[in-house]
Amino acid sequence: MDLYEGLISRRTIHRFRTDPVPDDIIRLMLSAAIQAPNHHLTQPWRFVVIRGQSLQELANYRYEVALDKAQRQNRPHAERIAEQARTEFAMLSVVVAVIQVLADDPYRQQEDYAAVSCATYAMMLAAWSQGVGTYWGTGAITRYPPVLKLCQVADNERIVALVRVGYPKEIPHVPRMAAEDKTLWLT
Ligand SMILES: Cc1cc2nc3c(=O)[nH]c(=O)nc-3n(C[C@H](O)[C@H](O)[C@H](O)COP(=O)(O)O)c2cc1C
Repeated sequence: MDLYEGLISRRTIHRFRTDPVPDDIIRLMLSAAIQAPNHHLTQPWRFVVIRGQSLQELANYRYEVALDKAQRQNRPHAERIAEQARTEFAMLSVVVAVIQVLADDPYRQQEDYAAVSCATYAMMLAAWSQGVGTYWGTGAITRYPPVLKLCQVADNERIVALVRVGYPKEIPHVPRMAAEDKTLWLT
């Protein structure tokens, strides 16, 4: 797959097959991630590859976070919603936590967040080049203390993305507005 084709065809995958993604593909994704542009070469990222028993633990934390949210929203069938959230994670092959090491300076933090986002996207595109799908997830689970503990996130760090990784069961179509409608050409 050439780079442009990968950029155009990549989609967030919501439904994954259960067959495992080889560690070599995860390594290839991480190698791509660390090539992301980053100002002053701060390389402000860290990655945690979550598999096996740790992934089951993460799935249980997802249940707790989803249950809390559904109950606070007074949603009927809160437990069923939370159970579904758990199963979604429990069935995955791998989740990669992308962590930003937070600089003291707020402006540097903002630039570093951009760099970590680039790294996350590079990782996703590298996966896509190997026929592997990803899903960049955020939300309350990225701040949930047991998840921070599981990923050994220090006080000067934060989770920028929990990237689900697996072979796609289906690839959704997600339309975009035309680039021309978003662009001002100056002469
Ligand atoms: C910073 C960031 C956070 C995201 N967090 C979530 C999320 O928590 N849940 C979710 O369903 N999608 C999340 N996404 C994925 C977007 O929803 C997705 O990229 C968008 O729907 C467009 O789909 P596509 O990636 O297939 O083009 C996130 C994407 C980014 C860049």
